[in-house]
Amino acid sequence: MTTMARPIEIVPSVLPADFSRLGEEVAALQAAGVDRIQWDVMDGVFVPNLTVGPDVIAACRPHATVPFEAHLMVVEPERLMHLYVEAGCELLIVHAESTRHLHRTLAQVADLGARAAVALNPSTPVAEVRHVLDLVEMVLIMTVNPGFGGQAYIATMEPKIAELAALIEAEGLDVDIEVDGGIGPITIAGASAAGANVLVAGSALYKDPEGLGHAVTDLRARAEAAAS
Ligand code: DX5
Repeated sequence: MTTMARPIEIVPSVLPADFSRLGEEVAALQAAGVDRIQWDVMDGVFVPNLTVGPDVIAACRPHATVPFEAHLMVVEPERLMHLYVEAGCELLIVHAESTRHLHRTLAQVADLGARAAVALNPSTPVAEVRHVLDLVEMVLIMTVNPGFGGQAYIATMEPKIAELAALIEAEGLDVDIEVDGGIGPITIAGASAAGANVLVAGSALYKDPEGLGHAVTDLRARAEAAAS
């Protein structure tokens, strides 16, 4: 199955949401038509920012039925992963740069009954994950340096997306390609045309003057047009 034929998914980053009423915000994202919801988990070490613990996610779980994914921007994620599964995250995204034994850590995600994905910082080459593609259902290529929302999209990641798409196709693997960082109406087509089918957006969703529903529909249409 080629990456080009894979369905486009729009996934919000919750980072720009109003944290004083996260349950309502999560419900509003589902009502806007997103495919799942991404929680940016930051520990202040792997990235210079600190965000949500598992209890916050668990409190929001009853407010939506779409799947939750945890983007683990933490060092030694193997220490914490079970907490995010218990909080209701079906998919755990582990950074290749965050753990000493990536193959073992990804296998542990499956042992916890969750689905596994691996993420690459902008400077990390595709070759870093070549030998764990059989353990994951998705690879996340960061299109910003992780740690903050509202940053500029790094367009030089598009050849890297294309390289990964070609590798996945050559190996005949069933693996999605996700991108995250600076995705919006102007940048989404480039990422989609390069081979990404799962597109994370934060500030672009909340900046749309016509609201979340319009933002999701518009981004999906632009990505689908570029993918075909
Ligand atoms: C950054 C996070 C992203 C970020 C996306 O480290 O992983 O999910 O919140 O936000 P935008 O779309 O505003 O770049």
